Amino acid sequence: MSARGLFITFEGIDGAGKSSHIEALAQAFRAQGRTVTVSREPGGTPLAEKLRALVLNDPMDALTESLLIFAARRDHLHKVIEPALARGEVLLCDRFTDATFAYQGGGRGFDRGVLTLLERLAQTGLAPDPDLMREPDLTLWFDLPPEQAAERLAGARVPDRFEAQPVAFFRRVAQGYADRFAAAPQRFARIDAAPAREQVWPQLCAALVARGWLAASASTADARP
Ligand code: TMP
Repeated sequence: MSARGLFITFEGIDGAGKSSHIEALAQAFRAQGRTVTVSREPGGTPLAEKLRALVLNDPMDALTESLLIFAARRDHLHKVIEPALARGEVLLCDRFTDATFAYQGGGRGFDRGVLTLLERLAQTGLAPDPDLMREPDLTLWFDLPPEQAAERLAGARVPDRFEAQPVAFFRRVAQGYADRFAAAPQRFARIDAAPAREQVWPQLCAALVARGWLAASASTADARP
């Protein structure tokens, strides 16, 4: 089993059910002797968590929102993601840049050319190779019809600025994810998030086993959510 750093991100519209699988996957990696860091975006550092609170709660236009999200990402990459990968750890991150293209690009209709520029600025110059733009090794995309996600979210908690959006917004977000998937399918594993949780977990395991990052026994171990 390789001990190089692994950067794995979890993506999908609100209500897709990704969060409940992150800790289970962390356990599966730990059971194989890997050191795992679990983090999230926006957030993951004290500064980025402050920016998260602003982005989720304070009214602002789409450019301000995108700048704050990429500022948080830069800090997170600098202080948490790159050091963990340099130590050969597994970094599991609840959302990353695909979410910006889906939510700000798709949902808000913000200029994807500007997002591409910000992506390159924020994600270059921190890895060992200064020209490398850091991207996930694998993105687990929890794909779910927006109507089904809305049913799951209904009445769950006080909604933030994104969760409060109508289904039409999430249709555009879902299309944003589909566009990112189409542009780089080899980086993604599409997970059908519509069935019950027990039927979703084996799909995650299969994606990791197929890449040689997890032993086949992991899917039957206690780690399942
Ligand atoms: P979470 O609830 O999954 O932690 O994500 C927080 C919210 O932030 C979620 O509704 C999606 C949104 N978001 C963006 O709009 N753009 C981004 O780049 C990221 C990472 C999250």
